[in-house]
Amino acid sequence: MLAYLNGHFLPRSAASIPVDDRGFVFGDGVYEVWRAVGGSLFESERHVARLQRGLDELKIPRPDVATTPRLHDIARRLLTDSDLLHGDATFYVEVTRGVAPRTHHFPKGTVSPTIYATVNRLNTPEEIRQRGAECITMPDVRWLRCDIKSVQLLPNVLAKQAAEEQHAIEAILVRDGVVTEGSHTNVIGVLDGVLRTHQTNNLILPGVTRAIVLEIARSLGIQVSEDAFGAREIPRLEELFLVGTTTDVMPLVRVDGNPVGDGKPGPIARRLQAELRARLDALRPADPPALASIAP
Ligand code: PDD
Repeated sequence: MLAYLNGHFLPRSAASIPVDDRGFVFGDGVYEVWRAVGGSLFESERHVARLQRGLDELKIPRPDVATTPRLHDIARRLLTDSDLLHGDATFYVEVTRGVAPRTHHFPKGTVSPTIYATVNRLNTPEEIRQRGAECITMPDVRWLRCDIKSVQLLPNVLAKQAAEEQHAIEAILVRDGVVTEGSHTNVIGVLDGVLRTHQTNNLILPGVTRAIVLEIARSLGIQVSEDAFGAREIPRLEELFLVGTTTDVMPLVRVDGNPVGDGKPGPIARRLQAELRARLDALRPADPPALASIAP
């Protein structure tokens, strides 16, 4: 796999950063993950806007490459040279405050941010999506700026590891009795036929997939309420599902070992899954005509 680091393309195994990088020392940086389908980035602008906002919030100067056209060029080259123009992949970008002697305050003087990008093949777990997945609940012990896609992900890592150890796909986080989001996904429930999900504030990441799925739901006439549900309401939910760039729409059929609704993926999740899939598939280049059809 190829990587991009500070203006250079190189094999990922050869990409390295100095130990004084503030991303390494403090987790002082942000990242972004795009979905690439057939070589194109899905909903690219929304991810770029979130990356730029994160940089602004952390007062990291926006690097020249943090624009849609420049990031498209980098993604295209990485996808092409890594043989990922077909099928599904992710495009990962990380920007840190840069390399400077360790001081908690920002470095004095001009320090160039570190910019790293890479691509990976994405295997979409189709079979689990069809039968539905299990998840666990965990206390949300994160900081109060979860709206920033910071590289400080230790609580998310620990939550996902706990899920993994219990053979669950995700950990749903609960703060003050309220379901916020997953370790790397947003969470949507269906209660009395209404989609319920946490409002976008400092307690969750404003997910791109969340926004798109809510738009799709509204366009289908499904009622949406950005009013979080409590952990105690989970047993009453008709449906529950995860949404995210690497997750699409993933129906959940068990939480902490108890069935959700009738224990099968629900009709709303399936509908939204199909609609999102159609939007992703629209990016795939059409297959070249079969030989037989172009033969004289
Ligand atoms: N995670 N919430 C959190 C905490 C996330 O890390 C993510 C994305 C989401 C979903 O956001 P989006 O729909 O924009 O991907 C919600 C990425 C994929 C990751 O960390 O790999």
